[in-house]
Amino acid sequence: DSRYVKTFRDPRYSTLENEDLVEFKKIVGDTGVLTEAFELEAANTDWLKKYFGSSKVLLRPTSTQQVSEILKYCNARKLAVVPQGGNTGLVGGSVPVFDEVVLSLGAMNKIVLFDELNGILVCEAGCILENLDNYLLEKGYMMPLDFGAKGSCQIGGNISTNAGGVHLLRYGSLRANVLGLEIVLANGEVIDSLRTLRKDNTGYDLKQLFIGAEGTLGVVTKVSILTPPRLSSKNVAFLSCGSFVDCQKILKEAKSRLGEILSAFEFMDRHALDMVLKHSGKSRDPLPASKHTFYLLVETTGSFQNHDREKLDKFLEACMENGLVADGVVAQDNQQFTSFWHLREGVTEALSKEGAVYKYDLSIPVPHLYSVVEDLQKRLGDLAIVMGYGHLGDGNLHLNISTPQYDEKILALIEPFVYEWTASHEGSVSAEHGLGFMKADAIYYSKSPELVQWMAKFKQIFDSNGILNPYKVLPPSALKETSP
Ligand code: FAD
Ligand code: MLT
Ligand code: ZN
Repeated sequence: DSRYVKTFRDPRYSTLENEDLVEFKKIVGDTGVLTEAFELEAANTDWLKKYFGSSKVLLRPTSTQQVSEILKYCNARKLAVVPQGGNTGLVGGSVPVFDEVVLSLGAMNKIVLFDELNGILVCEAGCILENLDNYLLEKGYMMPLDFGAKGSCQIGGNISTNAGGVHLLRYGSLRANVLGLEIVLANGEVIDSLRTLRKDNTGYDLKQLFIGAEGTLGVVTKVSILTPPRLSSKNVAFLSCGSFVDCQKILKEAKSRLGEILSAFEFMDRHALDMVLKHSGKSRDPLPASKHTFYLLVETTGSFQNHDREKLDKFLEACMENGLVADGVVAQDNQQFTSFWHLREGVTEALSKEGAVYKYDLSIPVPHLYSVVEDLQKRLGDLAIVMGYGHLGDGNLHLNISTPQYDEKILALIEPFVYEWTASHEGSVSAEHGLGFMKADAIYYSKSPELVQWMAKFKQIFDSNGILNPYKVLPPSALKETSP
């Protein structure tokens, strides 16, 4: 990635010495300090296999106290640190750029408490999202967020990226659902805002700063989160339609006719569907009679199946009568429900099997959302497969460009074109994945220099030596301006 060419190791950071390992072992014990090459390989490589670090040590603390002692030590020694959760991030934020210490939260995976009346869960940051969801299943609740990486991403990573996913439309973002956090700052100080209240307007809501901070302001160690009841009636319809204008009209119909039971409104184009069908052996096209340009997944979740089915049927009838939907099918059983969802959630993995992928996660006002895909298709011609999918109900497009291998010439055709296009349409260059290492320089396409300077001031307050996740989120040039 060309970001490596532009980024230099900051000489302010020390290099790991043997004495550091001795000190780390005093804090986390021998088993919590991993230094073998095979152990470090996974931690140094991101999910997309696009970003590679060269860290010499991975630490696995088991308590907040240990995280605090590690950071206090690293801060005094000026050793840079990358907090790492499930390492499923898609913007190169979770792996070292150079030789940063990897601080893995994976061994902090205990549930602290669950309030069954109010649906409030308190747990450690390293709990895997799917494990939490399975734990809640027995209690009649569910996690308010869901997406393809649930089997390996961690709640601390989700909060640090302010992850969105397929149910944001229904349950809102983590900014609304996270009720409290425990955070360890770079100097080892613990900020305890681990409250379990729905409403608390006493002073500034500091935890919000750490939601979506991608490990640059502090390390999330515990989480208090509101979880919705798990409702018994679930339906999903898989629809095809011929134009993006029709997709928007269907979204409008879905909102007004399905109302409170609408729980997801996802879209994918034909290229994305073909990609999953090609790489996922078991998947079948649910609408094989003809090929269409766009596909929609409309999910409802409610408490009374007859009521929900009636509403869904009326919605589908209206869409058919208006000629908005070309073809459609409603999942008849749990297996079909899962397989329809796999078609949408499997795109990411299918793309990674196909070859290289240039990923853009954009917020764009819905009427223009697909135009960037078409413009880029024209621009790249036969050089690449350009596709769009994503969370249409949230105005979030995943623009993906697939090529056999990474090629700087192709990248030069994509960037800054995509970022300029997004900025000129009042969009955001990161809707839900964050900026990480990939997009630190691109922040100015969505935030003014003044706002970036305010962010740099907060970074200075919480991490004055800049040891936490350097080279990520804010461009190093922005931080220089605030250095003491
Ligand atoms: P990591 O990848 O380990 O880390 C992500 C960032 O958070 C890094 O900057 C890291 O330093 C920081 N971090 C991690 N843990 C902590 C902590 N405890 N304290 C402080 N900082 C921390 N994202 C979406 O928003 N919506 C989707 O629909 C979605 N779908 C995905 C599907 C697939 C197949 C994949 C591979 C990824 C998807 N993602 C999605 C991206 C990714 O899963 C999310 O960003 C996820 O929230 C990252 O969690 P993680 O535990 O893997 O974090
Ligand atoms: C998704 O919605 O599928 C994820 O955000 C991952 C991706 O963008 O590929
Ligand atoms: Zn997504």
